[in-house]
Amino acid sequence: MGFSYGDAETQGGVSPCPHKLERKGIVSAIRFEHVTKQFPGASAPAVLDCTLTVEDGSFVVILGPSGCGKTTLLKMVNRLYEPTAGAIYIDDSEIRQLSATTLRRQIGYVIQQVGLFPHMTVAQNIAVVPRLLGWPRERIERRVDELLELVELPPAEYRSRYPSQLSGGQQQRVGLARALAGDPKVLLMDEPFGAIDAITRASLQDELLRLQRRLKKTILFVTHDVDEALRLADRIVVMREGRIVQYDRPIAVLTQPADAFVHELVGADDMVRQLSLVRVETAMAPLPAGFRRNGEPSIAPDADLRHALSLLLRTGAPALAVVDSQQPIGVLTLDHIRATAKNEIEG
Ligand SMILES: Nc1ncnc2c1ncn2[C@@H]1O[C@H](COP(=O)(O)OP(=O)(O)OP(=O)(O)O)[C@@H](O)[C@H]1O
Ligand SMILES: [Mg+2]
Repeated sequence: MGFSYGDAETQGGVSPCPHKLERKGIVSAIRFEHVTKQFPGASAPAVLDCTLTVEDGSFVVILGPSGCGKTTLLKMVNRLYEPTAGAIYIDDSEIRQLSATTLRRQIGYVIQQVGLFPHMTVAQNIAVVPRLLGWPRERIERRVDELLELVELPPAEYRSRYPSQLSGGQQQRVGLARALAGDPKVLLMDEPFGAIDAITRASLQDELLRLQRRLKKTILFVTHDVDEALRLADRIVVMREGRIVQYDRPIAVLTQPADAFVHELVGADDMVRQLSLVRVETAMAPLPAGFRRNGEPSIAPDADLRHALSLLLRTGAPALAVVDSQQPIGVLTLDHIRATAKNEIEG
């Protein structure tokens, strides 16, 4: 039983309190070794000889064009599909050693079509896994409310609604809450925001990043949206025709694409896109001595240079004040952006 919450062995010692282990979050790396999936009758394998390690607590995005095998790769992790060759490990246990049911209870799964049960309320939808796990009613209720707070749907208002009474973005939040309900260490997300308008999508992305910083799940996230991948990923897996063609940090995928296909896919020539990966604080200059605010628009140090650039262009201001907790800490001009782009991106 390598892949279970209370497994003391994987911690290298015996713990008197299994609950503590669950809180601490023991290792949950996912490892693919020479994984191939050939569907019967298909002319080519959907996934071909993929080897990949997703580190514990990291956010990995699988990016690639339609039909390249992203969903197939993901579905092999919770055994909705079985590989034709190769093996997949979680916590160093081969997943074939676990029953599909045991495995799936410990892996959150979110898909584009949300898949909420229409005849169940929001609370009942979220409670599906805790019920399967046999939690007492009060613990389930507490958990439902906690998760609704987490995804910013006030429980009093949303607990008793039905999915049809929610917007697409709200349904997606409930889907995420449901996936998190059993406190899985691994989250699989297959184009979860694909059907959602750009503004809601950006706010869901922000929320997911915030959650990830707090909960430190191991997330495997599929998209064919390059900007979404760049925004969310610690590392990006670029796939083409069933194969992994690059596995790297977002900035490296943009600046050192493995081949012409990746270059084209991510728009590696797009300087503005590259700016979105650099934070304002790495480009700003320290405050000049005796600095006094003179109507400069302000920007946060953790905003990206793409936003800074558009703010400079939109306002026509010569400089931005970089402001942290209402305290100016630096200034940023077009020259700073230009110099940083030269160093960080081209160099
Ligand atoms: N159940 C199946 N039976 C047969 N072939 C399948 C099955 N599922 C997927 N395929 C084929 O495997 C290949 C990869 O499909 P997959 O769904 O993994 O692509 P994808 O990268 O997720 O694409 P999209 O971005 O369109 O969702 C495709 O050629 C697809 O037709
Ligand atoms: Mg797919």
